[in-house]
Amino acid sequence: PPLESLMNLDEIEDAATKQVSRKCYAYYFSAGDDLLSKYYNNTVYRNILLRPRVFVDCTRADQSTTVFGHRVGTPVFVAPAAMARLAHPDGEAGIARGISSFGGMQVVSHNASMTPEQIVADAAEGQVFGWQIYVQNDRRKSEAMLARINKMRRSYKFVVLTLDAPVPGKRELDEKSQFEGQLQVSAPSQGGDARPGGGGIGQQMFWGTASDLTWHTTLPWLRKHTDLPIVLKGVQTHEDAYLAARYAEQNPGSVAGIILSNHGGRALDTAPPAVHTLLEIRKYCPEVLDKIDVWVDGGIRRGTDVVKALCLGAKAVGVGRAALWGLGAGGWKGVHRTFEILTAEIDTCLKLLGVQNLSELGPRFINTRMVERD
Ligand code: FNR
Repeated sequence: PPLESLMNLDEIEDAATKQVSRKCYAYYFSAGDDLLSKYYNNTVYRNILLRPRVFVDCTRADQSTTVFGHRVGTPVFVAPAAMARLAHPDGEAGIARGISSFGGMQVVSHNASMTPEQIVADAAEGQVFGWQIYVQNDRRKSEAMLARINKMRRSYKFVVLTLDAPVPGKRELDEKSQFEGQLQVSAPSQGGDARPGGGGIGQQMFWGTASDLTWHTTLPWLRKHTDLPIVLKGVQTHEDAYLAARYAEQNPGSVAGIILSNHGGRALDTAPPAVHTLLEIRKYCPEVLDKIDVWVDGGIRRGTDVVKALCLGAKAVGVGRAALWGLGAGGWKGVHRTFEILTAEIDTCLKLLGVQNLSELGPRFINTRMVERD
């Protein structure tokens, strides 16, 4: 179907599902065990109600914001997701192109199917990227990658350290579905170390990834090899959010933010959706929200989902699969359509809420009683 006829992110996912290979579908769609965290991610925002105010001039709604001092056109960012070229040859560079006219921000996966140089080669001045790292057992490989990223400061403005998947989750659909023929897509940052052979892409990608990371060994090491702001991805409890904020306070210029995420449900099944972690933080250590940037991802399908997360205190909201499905539905143009839909939905939501810009958003615009009950 023509991209303009696709009205929402579910329709884009349906269109992509019909176009990508079965293996690609299995890898993108899959999640841990029984897919419960993925299901909770996808449904939790439905149970938060909006509280619109009326009699407000909402001729214009501004959804631009700043990330570590850099202007972005929308609070929606593309979360790091491996192997975009499985969906379409435009790959991660196509994601960059698709979101550029919306001023979107993109976190590039350590397991991207193109090099970090290729991905930003045609990026506009001012387009904001982050680079996500899975620390390797052979630290010299990680250090070499960081040195490359440090040289591309025009584009890469921060580093995201993913913590929620020290080992891969059990993704049965991915493990079961075999490659049809030879896999023509690889992750160059892995240095060709991904194990060859059939089975789960997730399993193969993790080969060589360190599982011995700690607050007191990894962060000083990382700081030594980059002075870009560090964002910790995969925080799932208020305790760890508190530790991150405390670390940031004790080590100025290190940890600048956290991403509340359960890896799209792909790591520990029944781990909480970001909304629950945000609610915990608001209850037990709300000061965290002032000390470091708190971003979320997981299960974003609608502009209203994004706005609800912002009301709870998130500064930016990531989409993982939605960007990949956009790519699968039509290459860079499909990603463009995905962001066109999402940003338009956010615009409508802000206007109907009676809000002119994101700084006005806060808990007074939502009712979370149905989520807090469970
Ligand atoms: C991911 N995710 C991920 N995260 C990360 O830090 N490094 C990575 O390489 C990947 N790879 C990856 C591949 C695929 C196919 C998916 C779907 C996801 C997790 C991703 O950053 C994000 O947390 C989730 O995708 C968010 O959930 P939604 O938006 O997919 O529901």
